[in-house]
Amino acid sequence: MKNLSRWHERDQQQTSPWTHHGTVCYIPAMRVLGIETSCDETAAAIVDDDRRILANRVLSQDERHRPFGGVVPEIAARAHLDALDDIVAGALGDAGLTLAEVDGIAATAGPGLIGGVIVGCTFAKALALAANKPFLGVNHLEGHALTVRLTDGIAFPYLLLLVSGGHCQLLAVEGLGRYRRLGGTIDDAAGEAFDKVAKLLNLGFPGGPAVERAALAGNPSRFTLPRPLLGRPGCDFSFSGLKTAVRLLAEAEPEAVADIAAGFQAAVGDVLADRTRNALAIVAQDWKGQHPLVVAGGVAANQALRHRLLSVAAEAGVPLVVPPPRLCTDNGAMIAWAGLERLAAGQRDSLSLAPRPRWPLEDLTECSPN
Ligand code: KG4
Ligand code: ZN
Repeated sequence: MKNLSRWHERDQQQTSPWTHHGTVCYIPAMRVLGIETSCDETAAAIVDDDRRILANRVLSQDERHRPFGGVVPEIAARAHLDALDDIVAGALGDAGLTLAEVDGIAATAGPGLIGGVIVGCTFAKALALAANKPFLGVNHLEGHALTVRLTDGIAFPYLLLLVSGGHCQLLAVEGLGRYRRLGGTIDDAAGEAFDKVAKLLNLGFPGGPAVERAALAGNPSRFTLPRPLLGRPGCDFSFSGLKTAVRLLAEAEPEAVADIAAGFQAAVGDVLADRTRNALAIVAQDWKGQHPLVVAGGVAANQALRHRLLSVAAEAGVPLVVPPPRLCTDNGAMIAWAGLERLAAGQRDSLSLAPRPRWPLEDLTECSPN
């Protein structure tokens, strides 16, 4: 329990190292193993309460899904099952730790492709039972949402633009488990639109990085593509009309792949910027002072979009914080960190916790420091 109080003391006072009555105290760090299997990355990582990533292994299943042009849930679940043993052992080896030396075992318990989530969760529960360690079932979106606290030590509150393959939402992040949804997509997620556009332009799989690469050689102003909901009040998104426009254009101009990719990416950038501006105006009314704009999720790995959002943050006079690309896409460190925050706040989940294919962030329980 000493570990926990140390961590909270540091969090509140922002002091390091921890001292007690003027004496520097050396208490072993709290370490959590995190397992991520909700989509097509099999990942395991270990982080500690000094915000160090002691191991971070990510095995991409791209090769297995490429022939199908998208993630096949059944293949993903079987691939997680095949790989998880080695990935977890490898992560422990990288950190130079045994299972007995970690303080908790966290796994994504949803939302995501349920077969993979069941594999990762069951694996983590078995480890927790065998090693007599606390188990934590982590919400994957919370993992993305809290990553900046691991990478940059950001304090609450902040505005989060969460843009991934399955999600596109703006959230006021006001504490651990306190997420207020300001808006979200009414059809496709941003990453999903990138993946579909990549398919339409025959750019292969995975789609987001392929579109970004193609766009580098393109002229974003050659074609004017729609920017759904631009200029409207509120913080909702829509991408399906843009995707349809790309399909029609790709049929009419099959040689213009780079220009279409660049035009599409610019349109997504304008939509994200416009909606985020509205959200920044809302939180500026709610919160005193300047609080950061945080971008997370796989699409945040896109450099052009990062630049676009940097200008939005600069206009509003707030800092932009984006994790490094390898921590934007799915990874175990984000799950380990969210698990560590919850463990430090006193949470332990039952081994009977049911994995969930759907699990909105607003349904999470608020967790206050104990
Ligand atoms: O967060 P993530 O790894 O998995 C989900 O939780 O969905 O996000 C994956 C999504 C995919 O749709 C992928 O195409 C997109 O993030 N993505 C990108 C880039 N890298 C990954 N989209 C645009 N540009 C990128 N560089
Ligand atoms: Zn994700």
